[in-house]
Amino acid sequence: MKADNNCIVIFGASGDLTHRKLIPALYDLYKIGRLSENFSVLGVSRTELDDTQFRQKMREALIKHEKSSGEMLEKFCEHLYYQALNTSDALDYGKLVPRLDELHDKYHTGGNTLYYLSTPPSLYPIIPECLAAHGLNTEEFGWKRIIVEKPFGYDMKTAKELDVQIHRFFEEHQIYRIDHYLGKETVQNLLVLRFSNGLFEPLWNRNFIDYVEITGAESIGVEDRGGYYDGSGAMRDMFQNHLLQVLAMVAMEPPAIINADSMRDEVAKVLHCLHPLSDDDLKNNLVLGQYAQGNIEGEEVKGYLQEKGVPADSNTETFMAVRCQIDNWRWAGVPFYVRTGKRLPVRVTEVVIHFKTTPHPVFSQNAPDNKLIIRIQPDEGISMRFGLKKPGAGFESKEVSMDFRYADLASPSLLTAYERLLLDAMKGDATLFARTDAVHACWKFVQPILDYKAANGRVYEYESGTWGPSEADRLIAKHGKVWRKPSGLMKKKV
Ligand SMILES: NC(=O)c1ccc[n+]([C@@H]2O[C@H](COP(=O)([O-])OP(=O)(O)OC[C@H]3O[C@@H](n4cnc5c(N)ncnc54)[C@H](OP(=O)(O)O)[C@@H]3O)[C@@H](O)[C@H]2O)c1
Repeated sequence: MKADNNCIVIFGASGDLTHRKLIPALYDLYKIGRLSENFSVLGVSRTELDDTQFRQKMREALIKHEKSSGEMLEKFCEHLYYQALNTSDALDYGKLVPRLDELHDKYHTGGNTLYYLSTPPSLYPIIPECLAAHGLNTEEFGWKRIIVEKPFGYDMKTAKELDVQIHRFFEEHQIYRIDHYLGKETVQNLLVLRFSNGLFEPLWNRNFIDYVEITGAESIGVEDRGGYYDGSGAMRDMFQNHLLQVLAMVAMEPPAIINADSMRDEVAKVLHCLHPLSDDDLKNNLVLGQYAQGNIEGEEVKGYLQEKGVPADSNTETFMAVRCQIDNWRWAGVPFYVRTGKRLPVRVTEVVIHFKTTPHPVFSQNAPDNKLIIRIQPDEGISMRFGLKKPGAGFESKEVSMDFRYADLASPSLLTAYERLLLDAMKGDATLFARTDAVHACWKFVQPILDYKAANGRVYEYESGTWGPSEADRLIAKHGKVWRKPSGLMKKKV
């Protein structure tokens, strides 16, 4: 289904996200015919550019993205426009009114407008108010939707304040809080795997599952975003949003039907069941780390404190591992071990479901526990690990695997996360966007961890290229478990 005719207004159009992700995603949608010819993009930021200069910058970004130019690219660039304005001055937003009138007329959009906030978060509360000052939020003439990038708040208090402020000018049905993890095929596939097969769901509970591991590992450091990252850390950058959303997909109850309300009801419900972690719990169940220099794939890399933009005495965590529990009938007693970090040996995001071992060992040597490994990125796929008999005499067992790689299904029209989510927002489908109650539930769970860190502050050093501080291994070993040490590719099995 094509997107409605509409105008997409990107605030922060001179920034990194716009040229690296948003414009390439829109271009790819255009190429495969998911955008009608009646769309336009109006880039907005303070930098003085005219339409021609903006098109040239985006053209260069697209050539870099696609490594080719051509007629299609030129046709797409004709849909791009630019308006410079002072993004914190409500009066200046008056400049948008004639620009938008002209674009709505030219592209027969009926007034449909999608605002994308890709600016520093300090502007998220300001832009909606400035738009409203000129009536650019009202739906009398076409729909008006607003996509808000992460981070949605800095803590519980600021997340609530931001919500109150945006709700003054936009209703909940107009607000799309983007978490690009939810746009990933494999995350959505988790739902299909769970809810469209009779095989897995009967086993998907505390009776059969021993524990769940969720890993979001990056091999890169903070690169040139040290200043931003230092104010955020692994907890806010990865855990509070992406990994808790993945956890919700693993743990939620089946929705009655797949639509935005039903799905998001279940997501919010399970996030509200996260067992609140007290200081005592956190003493035993939380490990924070910061990378020191080391070696990744044969290359020497510097430590976090030597990165540009990072204060020499920073105590920001670039790694966290935490043991969570979900207080409901399905999951009582099943630990969820979640870890994330930078400068780990490989880039990988995966969920591992560890099934309980057999109740009685019949053979002298059993295979390890059965595992279902859901690889979210890269090399997306699913791998089932179980024991079979080693050929030959006796009954020695060996772990074997049945692997499915998503690339084997992929057609050229498989959408990337930003493509999928932009398209959904243009179609008015909020299923894969975070609702306010789910965001609050995540902050409610994370706030005591932030407070604990602020009061206790212990952040262990780990060598770049390792799986974090050894304390993280101890955290899980205390309970007789071990972290999986995945390789970068499913086909390179470990
Ligand atoms: N980059 C990513 O991969 C990524 C991923 C996920 C989320 N995000 C989020 O997306 C947002 C944008 O990220 P980004 O990487 O594109 O940031 P960026 O490169 O720093 O760009 C920020 C943009 O905001 C504009 N801007 C408008 N008013 C501003 C002001 N008062 N101060 C500073 N800049 C102002 C800047 O242009 P002018 O200076 O011309 O106004 C620029 O276009 C951030 O909130 C970030 O957390 C980014």
